[in-house]
Amino acid sequence: MVLALIVAALLAVYAYAAIPGAMLRAIPALPPISAPEGLRTTPNGTAVPSLDTVYIFHQLIDHTNPGLGTFQQRYWMDWEYYKPGGPIIFMTPGEVNAENYTGYLTNVTINGLIAQQQNGAAVIIEHRFFGLSNPYPNLSSQSLAVLTIQQAIDDLVYFAQQANLPMPGGDNVKPNTTPWILVGGSYSGALTAWTMVNQPGIFYAGYSSSGVVEAITDYWAYFKPIQEYMPQNCSADVQSVIAYLDGLYAANDTQGLQDLKSTFGLGGLSHIDDFANALEGTLFEWQSLQPDTGPGAMFFQFCDALEVKNGQIAGPEGWGLQNAIQAWGGFWNSTFYQYVCGNTDAETCLGTYNASQSYWTSTAVNNNARSWTWMVCNQVGYYQDGPPVGQPAIVSRILTPEFFERQCVNMFPQKFSSPPQPAVAQVDQEYEGWGVEVDRLFFANGQRDPWREATVSSDFIYKASTDTQLIYVGDGFHCSDLSTENGVVDATIANVQSAALGYMKTWLAAWTPST
Ligand SMILES: *[C@@H]1O[C@H](CO)[C@@H](O)[C@H](O)[C@H]1NC(C)=O
Ligand SMILES: *[C@@H]1O[C@H](CO)[C@@H](O)[C@H](O)[C@H]1NC(C)=O
Ligand SMILES: *[C@@H]1O[C@H](CO)[C@@H](O)[C@H](O)[C@H]1NC(C)=O
Ligand SMILES: *[C@@H]1O[C@H](CO)[C@@H](O)[C@H](O)[C@H]1NC(C)=O
Ligand SMILES: *[C@@H]1O[C@H](CO)[C@@H](O)[C@H](O)[C@H]1NC(C)=O
Ligand SMILES: *[C@@H]1O[C@H](CO)[C@@H](O)[C@H](O)[C@H]1NC(C)=O
Ligand SMILES: *[C@@H]1O[C@H](CO)[C@@H](O)[C@H](O)[C@H]1NC(C)=O
Ligand SMILES: *[C@@H]1O[C@H](CO)[C@@H](O)[C@H](O)[C@H]1NC(C)=O
Repeated sequence: MVLALIVAALLAVYAYAAIPGAMLRAIPALPPISAPEGLRTTPNGTAVPSLDTVYIFHQLIDHTNPGLGTFQQRYWMDWEYYKPGGPIIFMTPGEVNAENYTGYLTNVTINGLIAQQQNGAAVIIEHRFFGLSNPYPNLSSQSLAVLTIQQAIDDLVYFAQQANLPMPGGDNVKPNTTPWILVGGSYSGALTAWTMVNQPGIFYAGYSSSGVVEAITDYWAYFKPIQEYMPQNCSADVQSVIAYLDGLYAANDTQGLQDLKSTFGLGGLSHIDDFANALEGTLFEWQSLQPDTGPGAMFFQFCDALEVKNGQIAGPEGWGLQNAIQAWGGFWNSTFYQYVCGNTDAETCLGTYNASQSYWTSTAVNNNARSWTWMVCNQVGYYQDGPPVGQPAIVSRILTPEFFERQCVNMFPQKFSSPPQPAVAQVDQEYEGWGVEVDRLFFANGQRDPWREATVSSDFIYKASTDTQLIYVGDGFHCSDLSTENGVVDATIANVQSAALGYMKTWLAAWTPST
């Protein structure tokens, strides 16, 4: 499994990392944004320490058993806009090492825009078992037993109730005296909603961007917004290659399948489901798009390779199967293989059947792919597989949840002796999934976001926006509305952001301390 989609360091850029044996699937993470350089001063002229300063909170290892003690949880903060009485804008970036997310403290993001408007302070905290915030020194199944949605919720609550923030007056900003606003994007956007459902009365208001509130095992719908918004010629040609692959598979045409793999330079890949998974890799590039992404992005290089032939661009129907096989295969072999696997051979890079590979066995900390896979296997699923018959398929139907569930056993043999089904029904019941109804929660989604189908703006439900729980949709991609810059380049995203700022102002004006 190659390649986990791992967030790269730079502004809103994703990249694949060539991890031999890594899982080829996209993680619903929000884009990293670093804080702009420069000295920051508070309204009265006092300097704020560098935003790279790491603070430590002593978090409970297990909220069901406080006697186990605490671990060091990292957090970062900025109080350049703060005036006494202002709110605390609080976020975890979720399933990532948080060190490159300090932009979520400043006004290059919605967090900072809220802080600036309301004279608040901004805090980001690293999620347990990600980066360097680890209850135990390894990521074994034994250690990961305390990586659950509930422990993550309880971390946020315990921090709000206990932390003495390292700013002037920061020992007196607990939720009973100060309004706290919980912000999140992607999984952490879901966590925002889940926390407000599960622990009401702690966070006064919330902002959930691309919040994947509904846990879904068979998440074929990830590819639905991609199929609908990608260039239609490219979609048509991808569909014909996938139909051809699935036809060869149904007919057990082993020679035809081998020839097809070889055209992609993947003749050395032994299992056909690993090949089908490799083809998904090109489509996962969609997730890294933003409204201002230029034509050189890998996703567009891919479609150009399929659709531009001798200087001519195909019509909406594409160039047809034969050209598509050669063009997609050539693109994989000449460009994408190197991008994903570097110099690693295909079976080592893209195969999922050798459970002795270090990708499965290494329990070293600071490995977001492993920690996230634990959550996926146990609780949330979101397996990005082929669609049911009747839906357009840009991904092979060879891929089913079982393909991914088998990998849970590879990675966590101490926990799973057979492919596990994630407990999505329980998650969706306890934290209410699409049924969420809480006060002062603002949902922001993107029409072209592949994760939209797990949010309250999914095509599979109709959920009304209400006066207290707002649902706004812009034309953006994944978590686009978190970035101030995306509002500058796209008016629909600016509209989402200004609505959110308006509601925050109204809600905060009505806040009163609890007695
Ligand atoms: C953060 O960004 C720096 C600079 O680009 C990079 O060297 C580092 O690896 C990044 N950290 C993580 C955890 O990705
Ligand atoms: C963002 O905050 C900086 C101070 O850190 C300030 O100089 C700048 O004007 C603010 N930008 C906007 C758009 O308000
Ligand atoms: C991993 O951490 C656990 C504590 O969760 C400890 O008991 C175990 O010995 C560690 N295993 C390895 C291989 O370091
Ligand atoms: C500036 O404000 C902070 C509180 O926000 C206070 O601790 C500090 O004494 C003030 N400094 C001056 C020079 O007024
Ligand atoms: C065809 O593909 C090209 C290259 O990716 C793209 O620019 C164009 O918009 C597509 N046209 C149609 C009608 O899909
Ligand atoms: C598929 O074909 C291979 C040899 O070409 C054969 O060994 C295998 O039994 C066939 N499988 C099915 C399900 O027919
Ligand atoms: C793949 O690329 C290599 C060189 O990078 C070339 O030798 C080989 O023939 C190509 N294979 C196919 C099937 O295009
Ligand atoms: C499986 O991976 C291990 C560790 O990388 C390696 O030593 C072994 O040769 C691999 N087995 C096969 C059958 O490729």
